[in-house]
Amino acid sequence: MTGSVMKTSWSHCLYWVVLLILHTTVSTLERFEVLGPADPVVAVAGEDVVLPCYLKPNISAVDLHVEWFRVQTNNPLVHLYRDHEDRNENQVPSYRGRTSLFPEELSKGNTSLKLNEVRGSDDGRYKCFVRSHEWSEDSSINLNIKAVGTQPVISIEGYKEGGISLVCESKGWYPQPEVLWMDSEGHSLPAGHTETHTDSMDLFTVRRRVIVQETEINRFTCRVLQQQLNEMKETITDIPGEMFHRAHPWKVTFAVVISLAAVAVLGCTVLAHRFVKLRTKRVFWIAP
Ligand SMILES: *[C@@H]1O[C@H](CO)[C@@H](O)[C@H](O)[C@H]1NC(C)=O
Ligand SMILES: *[C@@H]1O[C@H](CO)[C@@H](O)[C@H](O)[C@H]1NC(C)=O
Repeated sequence: MTGSVMKTSWSHCLYWVVLLILHTTVSTLERFEVLGPADPVVAVAGEDVVLPCYLKPNISAVDLHVEWFRVQTNNPLVHLYRDHEDRNENQVPSYRGRTSLFPEELSKGNTSLKLNEVRGSDDGRYKCFVRSHEWSEDSSINLNIKAVGTQPVISIEGYKEGGISLVCESKGWYPQPEVLWMDSEGHSLPAGHTETHTDSMDLFTVRRRVIVQETEINRFTCRVLQQQLNEMKETITDIPGEMFHRAHPWKVTFAVVISLAAVAVLGCTVLAHRFVKLRTKRVFWIAP
């Protein structure tokens, strides 16, 4: 009788010891850090990007709650994974269909986010938040979007305030660039304010007008400058002196059309010429 009582209490004791050990092991195992890059991630508009985030130690995140959101006052949701599936019903609409985790990487503690076709509005600070039953941690990541816009296009609007009104436009920039008008000596000309619009990819279109008076050379430059990206694009236009003398706007339009056509023809000829040269060169180079 006593023997069996002893046996019962021994096995009871063993049971509790095992449970205690198991519990401690589990709770130390379940603690994790959430890590990401210290430097901002830079992405070119239109391309795909990975926002890195991973657990240390690299325990599996398959059973965990993984949430990506923008760091703002109301923490808008970018991507949510919980109960073994993506739950993006409350995702910010601009991210719809563009976010994913790496399912095969989750078991290795890799909770990086893939963001497809990045756009201007994706620029900013993100948080990668991971939660288990016992523990939660997060890490912040900056995403910088860059986009170099189009060659500026100068058009002639007509006579205004005793001069000729020129307008310069360039599309597809991020962040927003500056637009400068300059005379033939590189002096900045007083111009109107820069009009700014955003396109479907949330990139900037900039437009700026200037009214120019006749000078000796009548050469004007529109420069679009993005200092953070260290990028600059400029277009130069030559306005025929006679244009400043003509009185009637319809004549001006006519003259502009003619001169633009001339420029286009000239441009094509030059291009065709270069192309031929290039080809000739290549053949020449390959031959020996
Ligand atoms: C992370 O997990 C994988 C798979 O379980 C393993 O092969 C790898 O060695 C681990 N890496 C580290 C840094 O612990
Ligand atoms: C996580 O997975 C992505 C996609 O496969 C990979 O680019 C990245 O290097 C992984 N990160 C780590 C820490 O393993």
